[in-house]
Amino acid sequence: MKRIIATLLLIISFYFGFSQKSNSPATPINTYNYSSPKKIIATQGAVVSAHPLASKVGIEILKMGGNAIDAAIATQLALAVVYPQAGNLGGGGFTVARLADGKEITIDYREMAPGNANRDMYLDEKGDPLHEKSQEGHLSSGVPGTVAGLFASYKYAKLPFSTLIQPAIDIAEKGFVITKRQAQSFNALQENLKKYNTVSPVFIKENWAAGDTLIQTDLANTLKRIRDKGEAGFYEGETARLIVEEMKRGSGIITLDDLKNYKAISREPHSFHYKGYKIISMPMPSSGGLLLNQMMKMIENREIGKMGFLSVQAIQLMVEVERRAFADRAKYMGDADFYNVPVDKLCSPAYLQERMMNYDPAKATPSSTIQPGTVAGYESEETTHLSVIDKDGNAVAVTTTLNDSYGSKTVVGGAGFFLNDEMDDFSIKPGVPNMYGAVGGEANAIKPGKRMLSSMTPTIVLKDNYPYLVIGTPGGTTIPTSVFQTIVDIIEFGMTTEDAVWKAKFHHQWLPDHIEIERAIPEKTREALRIMGYTVVDRGPIGRTELIKVISRKKIEAVADVRGDDAAEGY
Ligand code: GLY
Repeated sequence: MKRIIATLLLIISFYFGFSQKSNSPATPINTYNYSSPKKIIATQGAVVSAHPLASKVGIEILKMGGNAIDAAIATQLALAVVYPQAGNLGGGGFTVARLADGKEITIDYREMAPGNANRDMYLDEKGDPLHEKSQEGHLSSGVPGTVAGLFASYKYAKLPFSTLIQPAIDIAEKGFVITKRQAQSFNALQENLKKYNTVSPVFIKENWAAGDTLIQTDLANTLKRIRDKGEAGFYEGETARLIVEEMKRGSGIITLDDLKNYKAISREPHSFHYKGYKIISMPMPSSGGLLLNQMMKMIENREIGKMGFLSVQAIQLMVEVERRAFADRAKYMGDADFYNVPVDKLCSPAYLQERMMNYDPAKATPSSTIQPGTVAGYESEETTHLSVIDKDGNAVAVTTTLNDSYGSKTVVGGAGFFLNDEMDDFSIKPGVPNMYGAVGGEANAIKPGKRMLSSMTPTIVLKDNYPYLVIGTPGGTTIPTSVFQTIVDIIEFGMTTEDAVWKAKFHHQWLPDHIEIERAIPEKTREALRIMGYTVVDRGPIGRTELIKVISRKKIEAVADVRGDDAAEGY
């Protein structure tokens, strides 16, 4: 009888949450029935991410006494389970944090080109680009950085690592129900999964539907090896062996040495001031911080606030600064450990003033007439961002990516996680666009050990020396422009947090020379832009911005994007 009661209790606890473990959250997380709160007001702390279960995990960690770094680590690990299209162990990312003691941190765990990579590895014998090889399958993967990044952040955390990883293990092992969006996404993936996998992954199934349960036993076992052995549980031993075997089966080139030698790097943030605010963002190998700096500074003295949100004048000015910044990206930006990126010059007041000399508020400046200053598509949304703040004012912005949705589409056999296809973020040939339509050259050419140029822009804005905005988004090259527009919406147009996140966005990246525009932007605005000489191209959702705004020390707003299942949690 006792055994029957114990078994029943176990089944009930599996169904309603994971509260029976000492490592587990005090409030059980129900993985079978959850919703996606889009806006919350909190007094103590907030987490906003691409998946409701991941946001809940983060909040429970804060309630258990963890700080914002603890919560960010746990949320990131949970995303690797519940949001496999971008949450990851097999990719990379960037963390920007501002601690309550004023310390500013950025951690670079961008993927690295394997030791056997070479500049022309994605060109055929005629020198033509082989996009499939840089975008899908084993050869498209860089050496993953995420796990090293988690441990580099962990030195600022408070709780045992085993506590932070346990919710992810539990959800992987016992399963969670998938949303309608997730089911559609899995269904769309089936053909590629069959094509790019050597061992059939759990994601292969006919007709996924909302409410189906996803159990990931191999992934749970990988997470347990990381829990028990730390970084070595991923970069050495069983997991490393499984990755390298997967590479051998699929003609990939990542070796045991590549994995063992991978290091996350703490870097100086890319920071600047804008009208009394301090903006802290990511330096190279992300173009995000520098592009944001260039764009904000090019509008600073032009009274954009008076033009009004989504006015033709404001869109036109923002498009023109986006165009100029992205022209510089194509020529000058890449991994600064390998290429001398003239960062100071590119954001100096004199240079930016010079860049705007040919700006005409009445008409488009064609990209053919805008070259990179004298001193460089179409988006998959599948990068992911999370923002966290705690009661002491520690703020963390994390953006991670597999690059394309589900990365290379290859799941490591026996280890249960997708590998990235980040090699496509290198310039595989000068002037040849990558999957986002972005072009590059020498600065971003492939070299062994080099990190490919990113657009990820995890950003913290300080007001009166305290976190004011914690922000970021997925969206490939639209990331810096979305972060730029959201900050301008709040600081210059005085918009509410929800309007700044949810309302329409637009994007220009020098080449191709057109404005990509969300459908909600009215026809009369488009027509006015066309008359000024712009080509306007309709596109689907731009980004999935996750925003925290601190109203006061005891009032925090967190807003999740309505463009996905994203959710805000707070307490
Ligand atoms: N893979 C997208 C980025 O890093 O910008």
